Amino acid sequence: MTEPSAASMGDVLTLGIETSCDETAVAILDRGSRLLANLVYSQAELHAPFGGVVPEVASRDHLRKLPLLVREALAQARTPASRLGLVAATSGPGLIGPLLVGLSYAKGLAFGLDIPFIGVNHLEGHIFAHALSTPDAGPPFMALIVSGGHTCLVAVPEYGSYRPVGSTLDDAAGEALDKVGKLLGIPYPAGAELERLAATGRADAIPFPRPMAGTHGFDFSFAGLKTAVSIYVAKHPGVDRADVAASFLESVVDVLCGKAIEATRRHHLRRLVVVGGVAACGRLRTRLADVAGPLGIDVRFPPRPLCTDNAAMIAAAGSHRHYVLGEQHDLTLTPDPRMGL
Ligand code: KG4
Ligand code: ZN
Repeated sequence: MTEPSAASMGDVLTLGIETSCDETAVAILDRGSRLLANLVYSQAELHAPFGGVVPEVASRDHLRKLPLLVREALAQARTPASRLGLVAATSGPGLIGPLLVGLSYAKGLAFGLDIPFIGVNHLEGHIFAHALSTPDAGPPFMALIVSGGHTCLVAVPEYGSYRPVGSTLDDAAGEALDKVGKLLGIPYPAGAELERLAATGRADAIPFPRPMAGTHGFDFSFAGLKTAVSIYVAKHPGVDRADVAASFLESVVDVLCGKAIEATRRHHLRRLVVVGGVAACGRLRTRLADVAGPLGIDVRFPPRPLCTDNAAMIAAAGSHRHYVLGEQHDLTLTPDPRMGL
């Protein structure tokens, strides 16, 4: 007798694949949005000596790791590949080589199994991390997508329909955290560790600028802030690292919080959804909750493991596009490193 599968026989399973940057991730999701497997393998250690992601190194490691993770995910879900009904993979934005690896593998698998394939926008994926974790708090809402590669505000009238409201003009917030982290001797990716260091420092120790905070629009800019920190540290070699981390993080949180709340109000929305790796930041979470509560804005964050890159969000977005909106892609789809929402 064979082992009973964790998935019931009537399920149609979606395999999600994410390889847009330095996480190789595979997830299996059933139609009821139940996660049967959710594996994330971070290449961070591989890139740490370089202080950032080396695209060619990332591509090669995705190629090595992806087939192993798919096999492991199927084993964890206790399902044969023949039970998959859809393959969803990130098709952009991201690094071209890493995207090509995931997309080519996904297309090959879908072709081999003779099932539909769908390419997923990584940014829409981040929004679906919220849909997956909190299905009862749906649109309309304002989404703040804040990660290592992106910082933008998007009005979401319904899933599948996105109205960009503002975006970073240069560095993403996570990128600034990683670069300032590097300056303070914290290995890449620095966000979580920088936050731990900041907790031991004084947030009002150094008056770093709040870039674009006073402007009416909803665009961001973090490159100047990063330079301001670097100049300050060069001029004050004895400065307490914790004070630098705390003051810098406070500036980033101030700007994100101010713009996100104002955009939500200005668009007459009652819900703010914060997604992407930087949404894992405890300081950002508590500050936004404190400010939003009295204004009657319902602010939501996915659980931390779904904030940073993962394939569960890609499976969820692909599943919505295919099963709800009736979409699929043919096997000629190519990655788009600069794809917007
Ligand atoms: O969403 P993500 O995994 O990848 C991109 O799509 O870019 O985001 C990664 C970013 C990195 O910049 C990392 O430093 C930041 O998220 N990050 C954090 C935390 N955890 C990850 N930033 C602040 N606090 C954290 N706890
Ligand atoms: Zn991401």
